[in-house]
Formats: sequence, C-alpha cells, structure tokens
Amino acid sequence: MSEPLLEMVGMTKSFPGVLALDEVSLDIRAGEVHALMGENGAGKSTLMKCLFGVYRPDGGRIFLGGEEVSFRSPRDALDHGVAMVHQELEQAKDMSVSDNMWLGRYPRLIGGLPVVNERESHRRTREVLDSLGLNIRGEAKISDLSVGQRQMVEIARAVSFSPRVIVFDEPTSSLSDNEAELLFKIIAALKEKMCGIIYISHKMNEILRISDRVTVMRDGRRIATEDKESLTTDRIIRLMVGRELTERYPKIDTPPTDTLLEVRNLSTEYTGLSDANLTLGRGEILGIAGLEGSGRTELLSALFGLSERSSGEILLDGERIDNRNPTEAMKNGFAYLTEERRVDGIFSILSLTENTTISSLKRHRRLCFISEKGQTRATEDMMRTLRIKAPSAKEKIRSLSGGNQQKVILARWLLTEPRVLLLDEPTRGIDVGAKYDIYLLIKRLASEGCGIIVVSSEMPELIGITHRILVMSAGRVAGELPTAEATQEKIMTLSTKYL
Ligand SMILES: Nc1ncnc2c1ncn2[C@@H]1O[C@H](COP(=O)(O)OP(=O)(O)OP(=O)(O)O)[C@@H](O)[C@H]1O
Ligand SMILES: [Mg+2]
Repeated sequence: MSEPLLEMVGMTKSFPGVLALDEVSLDIRAGEVHALMGENGAGKSTLMKCLFGVYRPDGGRIFLGGEEVSFRSPRDALDHGVAMVHQELEQAKDMSVSDNMWLGRYPRLIGGLPVVNERESHRRTREVLDSLGLNIRGEAKISDLSVGQRQMVEIARAVSFSPRVIVFDEPTSSLSDNEAELLFKIIAALKEKMCGIIYISHKMNEILRISDRVTVMRDGRRIATEDKESLTTDRIIRLMVGRELTERYPKIDTPPTDTLLEVRNLSTEYTGLSDANLTLGRGEILGIAGLEGSGRTELLSALFGLSERSSGEILLDGERIDNRNPTEAMKNGFAYLTEERRVDGIFSILSLTENTTISSLKRHRRLCFISEKGQTRATEDMMRTLRIKAPSAKEKIRSLSGGNQQKVILARWLLTEPRVLLLDEPTRGIDVGAKYDIYLLIKRLASEGCGIIVVSSEMPELIGITHRILVMSAGRVAGELPTAEATQEKIMTLSTKYL
C-alpha cells in the first residue's frame, strides 16, 4: 500500500458546549475518492475546516506528503495545494464569474506591478471553464446564475488551484443531474492526476458509485473506514445511525378525504408554467415528479404567489382565493419550504428560537407581548421531533451544522400549522435517519387534514411517501399516477412526454 498523501491524526475540536471532533484520524491516498459520511452534526464539515485552516483544531496533527503542516488560513492551505468547496456558497454576488474566480489572486501585469490584468483574468477564466466543459460566461454576474451554476463556479475555482488534495462538502445538493454528471467527470479527471479527493454527501447512490473508500463518523468520532467493495447501503446506514433502520419510508395508510385544493389552468407570465390542473385532497400527500426545469418549482411558487400568473384559478375548500403574494398565501393557510433554503431561508445572526418561530409569532402573542416561553417551548418541541442537534434553543443558527439548519427552516413552516404545505426537496442535505423523522412528520400532518404537495428529485422518496404522483414535463402536467401503481420507468416516460 502506498504512503498516504494526506494524514490527519487525533483531530480534536470543541465549541462551547459541543465536542465536535474527538480524536478523529483519517488518511487519504493519491488518486483516491474518500467519502466522508455521517448524520447531520457528526463533525464532517468541522474536520474539513480544521484541515483547510478555517478552524484551529484543539489537538491533532496533519501530514501532507509526509510533512507536518498546520494551515493558518484557507489562503495558506490553497498555497500548499489543499482546496475546498464549501457546503455553504460564499460568493460576491454582484461581481462577475471571473472576479469570483481570481479574487485575491488576480493575474498581474508583467513585472508583478500591482495592477490587475483584466484581459488576462477573463482569458484564464474562459480557459478554466472550457477545460471543465462548463457553459457559463466569465462576464456573467453571479447573481444572474442559477444556484447550480454558482456551485459549478465554486468547483471550477477550487480546481483552478491545481490542488493535490480537494474537499467537496456536499457539492451536489444544489446541482441538477446534468451538472452532477459533469462534476463526476471532473472528479474522474482529478483522480487521473493523482489528486486526493474527500467527498462529503448524504446521497448513498453517489457514494457507492464514485468512492474508493468510505469513512463514517458519528458524534464527533470516526466509526469505521472501509473499502467500497465491502459496503452496501444498509451497512453504511447502520454505521451512520448506530442502529438498524428497518424501513426507509413509513407506511402511508390514511387515505385522503374530500377535495381541499383545486387548481385550474394555471399559467405563469415569465416562468414557463403552462395550463396546470390539479386537485389535492384533505390529508393527501401529492408528489410532483419531473426533470430539472420541468416546472415543478414554478408550480409551487405560483401557488404561493411568488410569480406572476397570466391565467388560472385556485380554489380552497371550493372558494376562490388569489394568493397574489406570499403574505396573502400565508393568510390563506399556505406554507412553502423553498428549494434554496441556504440562500433564502436563514437569518444567520438570529437564534434557533427566533429562526424557528419567526413565521408563527402570532401564536405566541399575548395582548401586545410575545411570549418568549411559548416560543422556546415550541422550538424545543421541534428540536426533539426533528432531532435538531444544538446545545440549546438559544444558540445562533449559524453555529449549527448545515443539515440541522435545514431542519430549522422546515420546523418554521410546520409551526405555522398550514392547511396546504408546499415542500420543495424537503430532505436534500438531510441524513438518512433524520429523513425518516421528516417523513413521519409529513405523514402526521396529512393525517391531521393538511394537504401536502412534495417536489422531489428522488423517485424512491416520492414512491415511498405519497398517495399520488403528478409528473411534469416542459412546464406542463404530463400525467398522474396513483402511487400504488407508480414505477420509476412510468415516471421517467411521462417526464419526457413534451420534450
Ligand atoms: N462555528 C461553530 N460554533 C459552534 N458550534 C459549531 C460550529 N460549527 C459546528 N458546530 C457544531 O459542531 C458539530 C459538528 O458540526 P458539523 O458542521 O461539522 O456537522 P456535519 O457533519 O458537517 O453535519 P451536516 O451533515 O449537517 O453538514 C455540531 O454539533 C455543530 O452544531
Ligand atoms: Mg456539514
């Protein structure tokens, strides 16, 4: 066996009230994809941030190519050939792709004069983007790109440092299928070049497809490191959650009753939704399937009043409602968990309690005061139900792990006690154990009479937790399947109907 390229030994790191890493050791070989898995809050991102010089570990040693290193900052790590694509996007949104690529290291004019050579940076941006097969313009403003494209720019930036070791922290959670395929190609090319790759993801199929070895963490400790060949989904899950998870989806056995919501001929002005019709029963969980860009998200956002409608009617309990904007939609009992929670859901400097209860404050109002006790109690309830990992409800949300932040946003909407709940990719970035908790909660809400529409790219999930599935294709509803009769093939066939 060859000498490891990167070795981390006995890494320890604590935050106030949390031992995030407890003597974790990890080694990465040249040309290997090493997957890092574990429940939300297990310590994956923290371990990688200790490597990358974002955090200073309390203990432990790091060796790169046999030499001991300790990076003082991400810049320092990059200079030594370690790059990282973070779980959260941090980009200068008003600047161009090219600026984001070269920020802090612009090509200088000849002679090293402190003058930025803009032409040269644009040329090099083109070169990098082309070499990776990315169809994005270097002049484009970051804020004009889709979240997936923005993520690809981050990936391109990291790769452009020609690193010896590269860390991808949940890179595909905002990528389309095509973009994810492109990333796998990029990873294969990095392997060729004998780069060491650390890959963090909650998606089992990706892990089994691209990794060579898998390390599983739990509660800040390393549980196991095994070759991919010896692993199955079930075994990984058992290592992650520390118990057998006998079923992945709860049985959805309460049938819907009468019609709660009816949508007729809904079209949008600008987002390409065309003539959508649907009904949703009281207590029904309706799945929306379709390819990226097929109009799934557009349908939800039109229902919630986020996009301008050019035609259509919405009837709630037989009465016409308008939902011209989110405020009105919320008054009508709608709640909407958007796909881009990291971007538009989190108030990072506020506490867990504030983030959880911000949309349901009126329930905690007594005369003209807001009951803090009530807010805390509601938050603590949610923390238990969804297993949100945090030292207390007072904690700032930004100190939570990525997946736990997502659970908070979900909790926020659940607390509004919606009549119609719109969920866009509700379990993205959530670990398998916690996914099950979310399914149980969806099921409970439905059995209490809430109507739920779930958009998901994971077909097994749709087939696992819905009553009925609507398939979209090119902005239109292509067909409908009772879940009991749905198969992945049937869904795929319908989703290409209008292409
Ligand atoms: N800056 C911070 N301040 C305080 N606590 C933190 C901070 N960063 C992480 N933690 C805590 O450390 C623990 C590990 O978090 P980490 O982000 O490493 O988890 P993770 O494995 O990446 O989870 P996820 O899958 O949700 O991204 C969590 O309990 C988290 O709340
Ligand atoms: Mg993380």
